[in-house]
Amino acid sequence: MLRFLNAGESHGKSLVTIIEGMPAGLSLSAGNINLQLARRQRGYGRGGRMKIETDKVEILSGVRDGKTLGTPIALQIENKDWENWQKVMNVEEIPDKPEVIRIEKDGRLRQVEGTVSCPRPGHADLGGILKYNHQDVRNVLERASARETATRVAVGAVARTLLESFGIGIYSHVQEIGCVKSSFNATDCCNCYEEVEASLLRCGDKKAETKMVAEIDHAKEMGDSLGGVFEVIMTQLPPGLGSFAHWDRRLDGLLAQALMSIQAIKGVEIGDGFASARIKGSEVHDGIAYEPQKGYFHLSNRAGGLEGGMSNGEMIVLRCAMKPIPTLYHPLETVDIKTKEKKMASVERSDVCAVPAAAVVGEAMVAFVMARAFLDQFSGDCIGDIKQQFTHYSERIRGEH
Ligand SMILES: Cc1cc2nc3c(=O)[nH]c(=O)nc-3n(C[C@H](O)[C@H](O)[C@H](O)COP(=O)(O)O)c2cc1C
Repeated sequence: MLRFLNAGESHGKSLVTIIEGMPAGLSLSAGNINLQLARRQRGYGRGGRMKIETDKVEILSGVRDGKTLGTPIALQIENKDWENWQKVMNVEEIPDKPEVIRIEKDGRLRQVEGTVSCPRPGHADLGGILKYNHQDVRNVLERASARETATRVAVGAVARTLLESFGIGIYSHVQEIGCVKSSFNATDCCNCYEEVEASLLRCGDKKAETKMVAEIDHAKEMGDSLGGVFEVIMTQLPPGLGSFAHWDRRLDGLLAQALMSIQAIKGVEIGDGFASARIKGSEVHDGIAYEPQKGYFHLSNRAGGLEGGMSNGEMIVLRCAMKPIPTLYHPLETVDIKTKEKKMASVERSDVCAVPAAAVVGEAMVAFVMARAFLDQFSGDCIGDIKQQFTHYSERIRGEH
């Protein structure tokens, strides 16, 4: 079974991940993974961190002569900021560990707490210190941070390489920021993907993008933050991936879990999602048709390509709601865990809006879940064996044998 584990703290030396279960013979390069890492770092409304980190992956194992070996693939992404954090984040006990560090960035000297005693609202901080009995909130926030999603994107890039070699496409676009809505839908996104990629906000609707930028500027001025909605789309997926037979093999459930596991994602919809609860069955379900050239297909795609816990051969359409970034430059109230006194939450360098980046992380998680479902269906240790099974299945469902 395809799986991965990742490790690393936001200001630690590096982030690492191991992927197991990729077949042998897949062409893979660090360059391809780096392209995806760069996409995660773009987006209007990001904080200073994105200027510091230009993520680059190092492939440590599992690939030789540009091809996967079928063995575990180990990837590493260095944290460029590590130099400044060595004393605070060292694995060894440092006798003169500073309470505060000064970091020079963008020509300004900033002061950051080495030890954090005030849990920040909207973060893992309070639950984390209570759970692990930590006296320093940094022990929680360093790992809970969305910096971890860099490795998810690297894993997703590997999964995507596999899926793309079978003609499967993965896209995303930002549909809403705050209360501004894009008119772009899933089909527009696939047809005009270059415009989405070129957009500061991964938004294909230029007019909406201009308004979104203004909303972000306004939120920043007010010391506030914004969330939004993004869509992840997958094309050319064969029907029958996943299963109706067991709750834990249902693809809809697996996709929702993977997307909900992304920091700050608070809702996931499939196809018409919540809107379908408010209308009649005749307006919700998709008729079925058959043509010799095409095989079976649906007359509409309100289900978002998933029925009965399986792909149904139509475009997969998933929508995620991201809450506004919890770190606020006008912070909320909290409590100092040392003194139990009321304090204002500390402010670390933070994004104002990270919906475009979250969309790229969403693509990565969907790619991983789909690659796993794909390899469950067309199993084999090398690409050639998988291709044979895939071809046989594609021909059978078109009625060719
Ligand atoms: C790509 C991405 C970037 C994020 N950047 C920040 C950030 O700069 N500052 C911040 O406070 N939260 C940021 N978040 C959100 C927090 O990581 C998240 O809200 C927090 O870990 C608590 O998790 P929860 O919201 O899922 O409960 C980001 C999330 C994502 C997906």
